[in-house]
Amino acid sequence: MRKGRISKTRGESRKPAGVRRGRFKAGMDPLFASFNASISFDKRLVTEDVRGSIAHARMLGRQGIIPADDSAVIEAGLKEVLADIQQGKLQFREELEDVHINIEEALREKVGDAAGKLHTARSRNDQIALDLRLYLREQIRLILADLMNLAEALVDKSDACLDVIMPGYTHLQRAQPVRVSHHLMAYFQMVRRDAERFADCLGRLDGMPLGSAALAGTTFPIDRGFVAAELGFSRVCENSLDAVSDRDFALEFLFDAAMVMMHLSRLAEELVIWSSSEFGFCTLPDEYCSGSSIMPQKKNPDACELIRGKTGRVYGDLVALLTTMKALPLTYNKDLQEDKEPVFDAVDTVRGSVRIMAGLLPGVAFHAETMLRAASDPSLAATDIADRLVREGLPFREAHARTGELVRARLQRTSTEITVDSVPGPEEMVEARNHIGGTSRDRVIEQIRAARSFLKEHGHARSGRRGRAKRGNVEESM
Ligand code: ARG
Repeated sequence: MRKGRISKTRGESRKPAGVRRGRFKAGMDPLFASFNASISFDKRLVTEDVRGSIAHARMLGRQGIIPADDSAVIEAGLKEVLADIQQGKLQFREELEDVHINIEEALREKVGDAAGKLHTARSRNDQIALDLRLYLREQIRLILADLMNLAEALVDKSDACLDVIMPGYTHLQRAQPVRVSHHLMAYFQMVRRDAERFADCLGRLDGMPLGSAALAGTTFPIDRGFVAAELGFSRVCENSLDAVSDRDFALEFLFDAAMVMMHLSRLAEELVIWSSSEFGFCTLPDEYCSGSSIMPQKKNPDACELIRGKTGRVYGDLVALLTTMKALPLTYNKDLQEDKEPVFDAVDTVRGSVRIMAGLLPGVAFHAETMLRAASDPSLAATDIADRLVREGLPFREAHARTGELVRARLQRTSTEITVDSVPGPEEMVEARNHIGGTSRDRVIEQIRAARSFLKEHGHARSGRRGRAKRGNVEESM
């Protein structure tokens, strides 16, 4: 047994360790010890915890709350501890409960008694509130970069299949022809809003909670502004009670994550149905599909199905934390330790899903001919024929009824007195929708241009990609 691991049999008390020294006579029940410990998951926060501690130690030294020498020793020690952890040299100990105490103990082993001064004017309550904010800030930045890649993949794909026309759907019934590029640009809009939401969340978690200590603040002459600046926060949290008990920022993150997943799931679902033999609108890239263990002919759209499937777990993460927070009296309660796993799970799931979708999209091959054939179904022209009758002077409701009659006669192969000179084709119909937001070629190009400047504004786009995509290669790789 490694040093410090639970080494006695269940039910036997051990010596109090970590934060229990002093107050407690008996050690923890071993089952409770592992129930209580969060190190198995909050070890993800080591970098954030050490960063926060270094800023805090510097502040304590500057303010003369602890001797400047101790502050320097603590900082150097913390850096060594972090390096040890990163090199896998430090074994976390469950009886030290969480990342905070594990790091403090590791520091004590490095620098001795000075380590005991680090926690002056601080509590694990403001410490964890800080760590989680630092963590989410970093993760949101990474997710934003991932979302920009996805947005760009959508724009590139739209660009490449500008002239491919498909039936647009309502109720999953063929409705009116649209450009595939227009359809994909709809997803660009969603992804852009998703990115904006995360950016907004970033603004709201930009408050620095340290200094709130356990709940009421501290009796020491701290400098919270200094710590905030050290850690790159633009402001300090204004109420200590709120700062240690608020998890709005994590919930907001989870909601934003759930929203991204919902969007990805819709796109994933469309790719699943479009790639089915029934639709035959596209072929998914081999790299993102799997085979069947029994049916040799199968090529399954697993990547899309998994994205669709994992959406549920992110919704679960959001609901889990909302439920944890509900009815918690101010301020800190141990329930709050339950905030981390849903957040970590959502981070992993969203990052994975966004990256998979961005990786998969370029390899989707749209089958232009099949799509066009489906879009050439004459009943898709019904609205346009009704519109034509309106232009000839009929009220729309009347034109709608007459065209409906025409469609019914056609379906039942019966005759009707109503005749039309010509049925507009898909190309004519998409081009007729030539207003802002419409599916005409110029309007889609306009959307693509606006999207590219959005990407550029956000420091992303490799501009001038238009035209690079293989436009001639319609069937294979658009
Ligand atoms: N592991 C704890 C958490 O994740 C850290 C805060 C502990 N605070 C306390 N008063 N026990 O929430």
